[in-house]
Amino acid sequence: MKALMISKDALLHAEVAAQGSARLPAVQLVASRQGLRDAADRLLPEAPELVIFDASDIEPGEWELVERLARQYPDAKFMLLAREAHQELLIRAMRAGMREVLQLPLVHRAFHEAMDRIEIEAGITRMRDGKVLAFIACKGGSGATFLATNFGYALAALGEKKVLLIDLHGQFGDATLYVSDQKPTMTLSDICGQINRMDGAFLESCLVHVAPNFGVLAAADDPSHAVDMKPEHMDTILRVARQHYDFVVLDVGRQIDALSLRALDSADTIYPVLQLALPDIRDGRRLLDIFRSLGYPIDRTRLIVNRYEKGGKLRLADLEHALGADVVHTVPNDYLSATDSVNQGIPVLQLSRSSPVARSLADLVELVTERRVSETKGLFDRLFGRSDSAGTAAGAES
Ligand SMILES: Nc1ncnc2c1ncn2[C@@H]1O[C@H](COP(=O)(O)OP(=O)(O)OP(=O)(O)O)[C@@H](O)[C@H]1O
Ligand SMILES: [Mg+2]
Repeated sequence: MKALMISKDALLHAEVAAQGSARLPAVQLVASRQGLRDAADRLLPEAPELVIFDASDIEPGEWELVERLARQYPDAKFMLLAREAHQELLIRAMRAGMREVLQLPLVHRAFHEAMDRIEIEAGITRMRDGKVLAFIACKGGSGATFLATNFGYALAALGEKKVLLIDLHGQFGDATLYVSDQKPTMTLSDICGQINRMDGAFLESCLVHVAPNFGVLAAADDPSHAVDMKPEHMDTILRVARQHYDFVVLDVGRQIDALSLRALDSADTIYPVLQLALPDIRDGRRLLDIFRSLGYPIDRTRLIVNRYEKGGKLRLADLEHALGADVVHTVPNDYLSATDSVNQGIPVLQLSRSSPVARSLADLVELVTERRVSETKGLFDRLFGRSDSAGTAAGAES
């Protein structure tokens, strides 16, 4: 956004310039004026999209200039900064349609929140209403991390959604490594430690970007940090995340603690991941009992059977019966593609996109995004070069 800054204060100018350039899209201070009179006398040839106006030194005689300024740039958004805002100044500013008034010294978070609102109003960004999807392993090694990370990537790549994955493993979180070779510079615990800075731009800057529309927030790498993370932090992170992403995928890990519990509480859908074997079913039942005791509605919990092979002794119907919940999706056992992908840290959809496991993830994207089959088929056909639906992953048996 191209902005005009009106202020005598060089330090404030530099501060706003730095905060503005850190945003995506950036706020560029394209011109500056010393005061209202200066701004009124020297109009910009090209009207700014945003006027940031420091009213700290405004004289009572200049108040009417506020309204004049608003008339001079009728399409601009205004942000008024003031050490002490005089009541009459505020009334005039409001009359002139200026809605964002911030107290000085500048609180960066307040500045970014105001900018978020301005951008939404200007139609530059829109507030999203993202869905939170939690993947949780019923048993260690079920494949929850593999599915959460690769599904996140598939949602971004095939579903053309803006996706965030949060690794909630308290210890040994490794989700980033499944889809990237970049080392995270910030982790979940770092964010909790600086929760006051939390907004869309800050969150985005903390991610490992696997694709332009798919970022991963790494788990706390140092377990001793865990003490800094509070359930309230989770509320803030998810609130901001929902506003800025279409889908927030959680890799919950196996340990349910105060933090992951808070995340599960607000998840729209929980996908327990398990394999079709008795130990998994036993642990799955325990997990679902916990969810029931927490009062989670059963239709929020949707089972995913991973490494599924047809024709085994146990049937999906047995599992559904034992757990009292439906299996919404099965992912075939595809050892080579999964292992290759995990070992190289490249999403399976990118590495072996016509593999059974990649196709299955594509089907899951279709299921979650509720895209019409014909529309999605066209997209999948182009990606996978197939002419029919044969070879898609095993759907849930009826
Ligand atoms: N559909 C599949 N077919 C074959 N192998 C798979 C499949 N899904 C996952 N795997 C393999 O299973 C291994 C364990 O998966 P993953 O680490 O995702 O499990 P997890 O449930 O997250 O375990 P943890 O309890 O350690 O967090 C991975 O190395 C992956 O290669
Ligand atoms: Mg895991």
